[in-house]
Amino acid sequence: VRYIGIDIGGTEIKAGLVDREGAILAWSRRPTNRREPELLLARLLELVDSVSGGSEVRAIGVGVPGLISVRSGRVEMAPNMPALNGLNISEMLAGPTGLPTIAANDADMNAWGEFGAGAARGSRHVVCLTIGTGLGSGLILDGRLWAGTSGFGAEAGHMVLDPEGLPCGCGSRGCLETIVSATGIVSLARRGIAAGATTCLSDDSGLTARTIQEAAAGGDAFAASVYARVGRSLGMACASLINLLNPEIIVIGGGVAAAGDYLIGPATEETRIRTYRQTFEACRIVPAQLGSHAGVVGAGLFASQHFAATVSGA
Ligand code: BGC
Repeated sequence: VRYIGIDIGGTEIKAGLVDREGAILAWSRRPTNRREPELLLARLLELVDSVSGGSEVRAIGVGVPGLISVRSGRVEMAPNMPALNGLNISEMLAGPTGLPTIAANDADMNAWGEFGAGAARGSRHVVCLTIGTGLGSGLILDGRLWAGTSGFGAEAGHMVLDPEGLPCGCGSRGCLETIVSATGIVSLARRGIAAGATTCLSDDSGLTARTIQEAAAGGDAFAASVYARVGRSLGMACASLINLLNPEIIVIGGGVAAAGDYLIGPATEETRIRTYRQTFEACRIVPAQLGSHAGVVGAGLFASQHFAATVSGA
């Protein structure tokens, strides 16, 4: 039996054909067209077609970057992709494909993938942070995905880190994701460049979290300092989460996590300073294992478990 997992991201939509263990059997991706949301359905259907091949597909799972109710499938609020607001993603796909479809938060699906088939396999208390265009989070507490009262938890990206900070897409300011995200990294570098930093980087359209990371790897001290500063903010967030939850593992994923030690090194040190020794030592802070596949694997696994439970009446 096969499932399709889809991950709708700020820059790309990814899809995979996934089995019940979370192995990916086929894979495809398309750029996200944030300016023409009406193309979304066509893109999603193309992807479903391209990964399903001739296989018998049982159901589809989709990760969406924002508040989405698993029960209704409706996107309530997508701060980094407002074009999705109000869309019913599961109905949109279930109609034309004829396949049962479940839609959930993208970071929850990443967490579910890392828990089922990645870095957090075998752990019971897991925090998974996904750092990309925004910062998403998923919590697995006592082996279960935490959804909260309305189904919109956990949104660690909107914990306040700087009360006077930059405005955030959610309407607040100084949220963790205004600092620890691709957008936050570029904005910090831009401010440094404007203030006259010595660096090989220049503030043009080519400036991205990745070019800054490459500059750091190439020995640019300013670029490394941008990642170190962002890493320290990430560490403050990890410390708060450890102080609150006493998890056994924090998995750091998403495109920005590719910076590896430039980010996770300073983050771990900052976490150590701001936690009890006992809870710090009980928790591993590790990079994600499934990389850019986590959301697709998680959404496929989620669909398989959800519809298996529905069919058996559990
Ligand atoms: C949204 C989350 C989402 C994350 C990553 C945040 O701004 O509030 O729901 O998971 O971005 O896409």
